[in-house]
Amino acid sequence: MPFGDLSKVGPWTRKKLELLNKYLSAYTTILAAQPWCSGVHYIDAFAGPGMHIDRETQQLLEGSPLRALNVEPSFDRLIFIEKDDDRVERLNALADEYAERNIDVWQGDCNDVLPHIFEEIPGNQRAFLLLDPYNLGVRWETIQAAAEAGKQRGNRFYKTIEIMINFSLHDANRNVVRSQPDDMDPHQAQRLTEVWGSQEWMDWIYGEAPQLSFSGPEQVKVDDVPDRLSEGFKARLETVYDHVSDYVIMRNTTNAPQYSLILASHVGVAQKIMNDIMEYAEQ
Ligand SMILES: C[S@@+](CC[C@H](N)C(=O)[O-])C[C@H]1O[C@@H](n2cnc3c(N)ncnc32)[C@H](O)[C@@H]1O
Repeated sequence: MPFGDLSKVGPWTRKKLELLNKYLSAYTTILAAQPWCSGVHYIDAFAGPGMHIDRETQQLLEGSPLRALNVEPSFDRLIFIEKDDDRVERLNALADEYAERNIDVWQGDCNDVLPHIFEEIPGNQRAFLLLDPYNLGVRWETIQAAAEAGKQRGNRFYKTIEIMINFSLHDANRNVVRSQPDDMDPHQAQRLTEVWGSQEWMDWIYGEAPQLSFSGPEQVKVDDVPDRLSEGFKARLETVYDHVSDYVIMRNTTNAPQYSLILASHVGVAQKIMNDIMEYAEQ
């Protein structure tokens, strides 16, 4: 297929993909060593075209589906979900190229598709779910369904899915957050509420102004919105996952925050590995 329609991506995408690569290798290595684990799945909910063009080098850059396909030890099954027609076509071509692998390509809104996929994963298998939207495109119900997904075996319930999520600071900053809560567009505010699953995000980014106005205390935006939103979202993930990593804020070349990358898991070792990978990347 020609490459003309591929999107050009900045260094922050390359950094995200490198972190993803490192974590996926650790994930499949650990699970391959567990005798009880009979299958490891990779679910890419916002899969993209599989390939990008690196804006800095003008070279092709493998996207998340290709990274997952090439991880060793390999995933037993890969599920790519994508909304866009052309990108689905590319993903189908990728699946043909890797015909010996167990790959499913689904077209649609991942928030609708994912609950069906979660259902299929047995209690003695595990799945890694990448939620990598351009914007505030993940619904809290989807995150909650992933966190709760699992199967009863004997007298124990085994939770099966961990997530890596990109929380779009760019979308929140540009379209939702305003100097004062009353200045926000209610429709835009609702988009953030849908990702968060509540309006509590407002408590993280608005506080009382130091000086009282004549009409009483005023709510104003805090200075460090990207950090506050990232901390708040991490705390929100901790309501459904026991082990949530630190966050890394990805910035563009003018240092503007693009998104926060966070891992949420049911096991402590996952959190530790991700924190180590993030710490190393920040050095
Ligand atoms: C940031 S890109 C994904 C990049 C990819 N994860 C990578 O690293 O190579 C987001 C993709 O999600 C797709 N998308 C947007 N909304 C979606 C939705 N609700 N469900 C599934 N895909 C969606 C877009 O068409 C776009 O290709």
